[in-house]
Amino acid sequence: MKHMISLIDWSADEVAEALRLAGEFKEKPLSKRGALDGKVLGMIFEKSSTRTRVSFEVATLRLGGHALFLSTRDIQLGRGETIADTARVLGRMCNGIMARVFEHEKLAALTASGLPVINGLSDLLHPCQALADALTIIEHKGSLEGRTLAYLGDGNNVAHSLINLGARSGLAVRVGTPERYGPDPAIVAAAREAGADVTVTHDPVEAVQGVDVVYTDTWASMGQEAEAQARAQVFAPFRIDEALFAKAAPDAIFMHCLPAHRGDEVTDAVIEHERSVVFDEAENRLHTEQAVLFMLMA
Ligand code: CP
Ligand code: NVA
Repeated sequence: MKHMISLIDWSADEVAEALRLAGEFKEKPLSKRGALDGKVLGMIFEKSSTRTRVSFEVATLRLGGHALFLSTRDIQLGRGETIADTARVLGRMCNGIMARVFEHEKLAALTASGLPVINGLSDLLHPCQALADALTIIEHKGSLEGRTLAYLGDGNNVAHSLINLGARSGLAVRVGTPERYGPDPAIVAAAREAGADVTVTHDPVEAVQGVDVVYTDTWASMGQEAEAQARAQVFAPFRIDEALFAKAAPDAIFMHCLPAHRGDEVTDAVIEHERSVVFDEAENRLHTEQAVLFMLMA
């Protein structure tokens, strides 16, 4: 059984195939309309979502299947039924599971369903985001190979999956974070082991100097709301404003997984910049997820 729990579990060829298919779906959304005929994707959400929920629901529909929105506010999982029991029940009724969870380990527990499991974001990783980001970079920069992306801010789930993308594509990744907020050293080490060009620095200017892509995410992720004020102080030097964006290559693009906290990690001027591609990036979630669903569930 194949899953999309981490991008590092997919080969470079599989990632390339997903991106090729995504391009096809972007041009012809209904080209494989019957592929998920009669099939159901159970979508468990422990956290809020706009893009992930809508893109998976629309992508499933475009393949002829049906997606169920299962918020833990409503299902028994939120009242203490175990992940393993929930998985076994969904295994009897659905054909695939997409889950947005706090603890990453819950995704492995969901494989007890016997179904393909897709990570719709965990505290550790956000692989579907990185896949959409890859498509966006290819569209705007022509390729991943030979390009450099600077991620500024928290060394979090989004940063980790971009590092994994580097290991599966030839995209060089520079991560600039405050001290103590760097990416998980085990993820960096595994990516380097797989041949990725990953640099970690605590200097925002060094991180963005001359790069093709400048990327950021919220300073306080879902579940870290209580730390938001303290983090705002520590992360302030990593805010992407016009001066910092100008240190990147003259044709560099700006990316953000969204939702953005305008004025914190990015200024209005940069997110509205003519070289900001954040809404192409959001749209590409739909096309890349349609590709993942097709590869795992058709
Ligand atoms: N980027 C992303 O995953 O957005 P949502 O939280 O809205 O799903
Ligand atoms: N790092 C953010 C990403 C949201 C899509 C979070 O986990 O909240």
